[in-house]
Amino acid sequence: MTAEGIRVSREWLALREPADAAARAPDLAEQLRRRLPTAGRQLIHDLGCGTGAMGRWLAPRLPGPQHWVLHDRDADLLAIAAEDLPGEAADGAAVTVETRQSDITRLDPGDLAGATLITASAMLDLLTGEELAGLVTVCAGAGCPVLLTMSVVGRVDLNPADPLDADVAAAFDAHQRRTTERGRLLGPDAVAVALAGFDRLGAEVLVRPSPWRLGASDADLAAQWFTGWVGAACEQQVELFAETGAYARRRLAEATAGQLAVTVDHADLLILPRPDRASE
Ligand SMILES: C[S@@+](CC[C@H](N)C(=O)[O-])C[C@H]1O[C@@H](n2cnc3c(N)ncnc32)[C@H](O)[C@@H]1O
Repeated sequence: MTAEGIRVSREWLALREPADAAARAPDLAEQLRRRLPTAGRQLIHDLGCGTGAMGRWLAPRLPGPQHWVLHDRDADLLAIAAEDLPGEAADGAAVTVETRQSDITRLDPGDLAGATLITASAMLDLLTGEELAGLVTVCAGAGCPVLLTMSVVGRVDLNPADPLDADVAAAFDAHQRRTTERGRLLGPDAVAVALAGFDRLGAEVLVRPSPWRLGASDADLAAQWFTGWVGAACEQQVELFAETGAYARRRLAEATAGQLAVTVDHADLLILPRPDRASE
């Protein structure tokens, strides 16, 4: 579930959708609601939409007619997004959807022309610094609010704790920051880079925590997350395979039994163009 063409599975996205919905910062949706134009139809672009979870969460929180343009490079995920629609707006107005198979690191300003809102979720950490800088520029150029949610920040807490947790966490973060043929991925540095980029362009940025807090009722997600977490860590630092064998089996059994509480910190950003700069 990382960059360079590795596909994100629909099963993983379905499993994480309720946890994302519970974690997203609701006051940013409220701030957004107050800032969107009150007349006409909202034109909302969701970048790296996957199966369309962001629209299903946000569209019913915003009033008025909305048209969502869902961008992803994965045609299979877009097909699900086109079927699993958001439903009505907060006031019962219609919400329509179109899908666009595209690489969101190659968007032109014209692709976002007329946007009243741009969103992305669980996306930023998959990008390189250069790709994110380009995305920041093209989003800021659209002159509308930008809601970037569920970006990992590199903090994970497991309870009960184990001495090996920190080693695995460090190797996982290094894996997220690995160098690919596209360049070095940002992983947990993406939030700081996005903040600095929008700040440089004069936008106001609101930041909120949006942690996953997985307990006994999220055992399936916790187990899947743990498997991916330790797997990526061992891929990055192969000697961890030998060190973490018994640890991984024990932790996975705990997670599956709902006996492992996992907090995975994320951040949500709402970027608001300054009124005097929106049309520059
Ligand atoms: C972790 S998933 C998040 C999906 C969705 N936003 C959500 O919150 O459920 C990341 C998504 O970004 C897409 N993606 C990654 N890099 C992309 C790129 N350069 N252009 C278009 N889509 C991309 C993947 O195909 C995947 O659907």
